Amino acid sequence: MKSSHRLITTLALVVAAPFVLAAEPAPAAPATAPAHKEKKIETDLSHRMDKMAGAFRKLRRQAADATKNEDSLAQVSILREYGEASLKLEPYKAGEVPAADRARLVAGYQEKMKEFNAAVAQLEAAFKAGQNEAAAKLVQDLSALQKAGHKEYKSKAID
Ligand code: HEM
Repeated sequence: MKSSHRLITTLALVVAAPFVLAAEPAPAAPATAPAHKEKKIETDLSHRMDKMAGAFRKLRRQAADATKNEDSLAQVSILREYGEASLKLEPYKAGEVPAADRARLVAGYQEKMKEFNAAVAQLEAAFKAGQNEAAAKLVQDLSALQKAGHKEYKSKAID
């Protein structure tokens, strides 16, 4: 009797095993990078900013070097062109804040962008005058304006 019990138990296990195993959750997928990075938001303004980024990276490296002034002036022209174009646009964040705060946000952005463009004009004058120490300092100022501008006006949805 005891052994027939064991037989039945064994048989039950054998019969049930495939179903139990099938019910196991699938093994976790290997931890590889996702095939598609989530698509980031791009705007007319972010495209102009992208153009400024390359020029500014160069200026950070070479502003103090008088032998590079010709190229530095070419990079400044890029900042001037896209800085002026950026002034005419509104930050994406304007559409994220409550309607009541929108005008103030856009005005603040424009004010900061004007400050930026004025510093770019000073930078151009410094290179033209061969004042590289002043130019290097102005590049620092532009960097601070960039940081402040992004902190205040760049949406978290744009990276
Ligand atoms: C040298 C100066 C600057 C550089 C190199 C720069 C660079 C950039 C870059 C690379 C992005 C992201 C673009 C993307 O994700 O595709 C960006 C976005 C942005 N930047 Fe700048 N930036 C500068 C100055 C400023 C200043 C002064 C302000 C504000 C007055 C500003 C406001 C913004 C805003 C609002 C965005 C988000 C775009 C949108 O709202 O549509 N940036 N910037």
